[in-house]
Amino acid sequence: MENKREEFLYIIKDLKGYMFYLKEMGIEYIPVSSKFITQNSPDSKALSPEELLQNLRKVIGNCRKCKLNKGRTQIVFGVGNPKSEIVFVGEAPGRDEDLQGEPFVGDAGQLLTKIIESMGLKRQDAYIANVVKCRPPNNRNPESDEIESCEPFLLKQLEIIKPKIICALGTFAAQTLLITKEKISSLRGNFYYYHDIKVMPTFHPAYLLRNPGDKKLVWEDIKKIMKELNLKGKGNG
Ligand code: URA
Repeated sequence: MENKREEFLYIIKDLKGYMFYLKEMGIEYIPVSSKFITQNSPDSKALSPEELLQNLRKVIGNCRKCKLNKGRTQIVFGVGNPKSEIVFVGEAPGRDEDLQGEPFVGDAGQLLTKIIESMGLKRQDAYIANVVKCRPPNNRNPESDEIESCEPFLLKQLEIIKPKIICALGTFAAQTLLITKEKISSLRGNFYYYHDIKVMPTFHPAYLLRNPGDKKLVWEDIKKIMKELNLKGKGNG
């Protein structure tokens, strides 16, 4: 009996330690059922992709898994249609995104919106997210430990949305998703796979703002995506 009591006290102590650890990591929400996380479980059939994304956002909480939490205003989770056939993946939030809590809302974001509209879609028909959810200081590239901490959240978003196509925007998203050091200029224009989802790498809209002459190449890539998705489009954006 005494042993059982001791064992129980140890378990409570362990649990307390674990809860403290989660709190330190910024996790403020503990899923109470597998259906909150594993959308493949039979129970989860009851939950819509929208609800699963909301639950994932709660699980991320006020994440402090990596050092980017120190300089951010807020976590920029992702935006758009939870059942979208296409997900655009950028690098990381910039200043505007950090302030507004939504990806691609600055100048590059406006160009991305135009690209989406040129496909015959509305911005809210697509889903938009970044590899890293917090703004790196002075918009520097995210570091490998930051990606390692954050990439599981992107993977979970993609598992929930199950898009047909990921459009990887720029060197950074393409190299991260495809685990390669190849340049975006040689990757773009061809389909690859991220897990079981087709990936089309193309130039980042911020690059296009500096190099408008390359817009035609992006349009070539976008047309390949449109063909896969049977979209008619409405011009060359
Ligand atoms: N650039 C990105 O890669 N992501 C954003 O959200 C904004 C700019």
